[in-house]
Amino acid sequence: MTVQISDPPPSSAAVDAAVFRAENISVQFGGLKAISEVSLEVERHQVFGLIGPNGAGKTTLVNCLTGFQRPTAGKVTLAGADTTGWSPTRFRKAGIGRTFQAGRLFRDMTVLENVEVTAAALGLSRRQARLYAMEMLGWLGIAHDAERLCGGLPYTDERRVGIARALLLKPAFVLLDEPAAGMSDHECDTLMHLVREIPKVHGCGVLLIEHNMRVIMGLCDRIHVLDGGRTIADGPAREVQKDPTVIAAYLGAAA
Ligand SMILES: Nc1ncnc2c1ncn2[C@@H]1O[C@H](COP(=O)(O)OP(=O)(O)O)[C@@H](O)[C@H]1O
Ligand SMILES: [Mg+2]
Repeated sequence: MTVQISDPPPSSAAVDAAVFRAENISVQFGGLKAISEVSLEVERHQVFGLIGPNGAGKTTLVNCLTGFQRPTAGKVTLAGADTTGWSPTRFRKAGIGRTFQAGRLFRDMTVLENVEVTAAALGLSRRQARLYAMEMLGWLGIAHDAERLCGGLPYTDERRVGIARALLLKPAFVLLDEPAAGMSDHECDTLMHLVREIPKVHGCGVLLIEHNMRVIMGLCDRIHVLDGGRTIADGPAREVQKDPTVIAAYLGAAA
């Protein structure tokens, strides 16, 4: 099922950037080097997979790509422009959307209200914001939860609301940090079917962090593998899958 989402409202953050890049990023937390000289490039039409064991540095890298963490060295560029010093708000306005591993929703507000406030921030009228938000909830398959309070939602539905909010801003790139964690195989497959459609339906590139290898290999155009903060592989899924270093460090252990 392919559902077309309305064109972005005129005041949205949509930008034309076709390439989003990390260039030689390192992040040091005191004595710990969380990321060491990592470079990657996400293209607008792609679903790009970022994988690696727990503690590999995936979330820290996403934080660097969204202004939540300043790299100790290296830089992030959007369509070639250096983003050094940009705040999370500036990244968001330039078309970079993200989700978080946990929550960050207004717990005392309903699902619809949580999504509506994001739509309202685009400068839409109350009525337009509600319609636009409902359309997004429908696309994600959670319209029936519109009137539920976010505080009472299962963890997995919270994640869907987070995705709705991120996509509503019509980003050029959206970064999804383990959106399917804790989901059943069926829930995960349903969500990943939607993730696959994001570049086409929403016109943005996707960076996806996900542990399930079956899902990652079936979905991603390109995969980047981190281990201990270092890149151990980057390439098309079918090549990375066969890489002996990846098999030894990660796939073998996860199988
Ligand atoms: N704010 C922080 N301060 C200190 N250490 C951190 C911080 N954030 C992450 N780390 C450490 O950096 C490493 C990478 O963490 P993270 O990026 O969360 O990995 P992943 O998302 O791949 O599981 C881990 O060793 C983690 O404990
Ligand atoms: Mg993480």
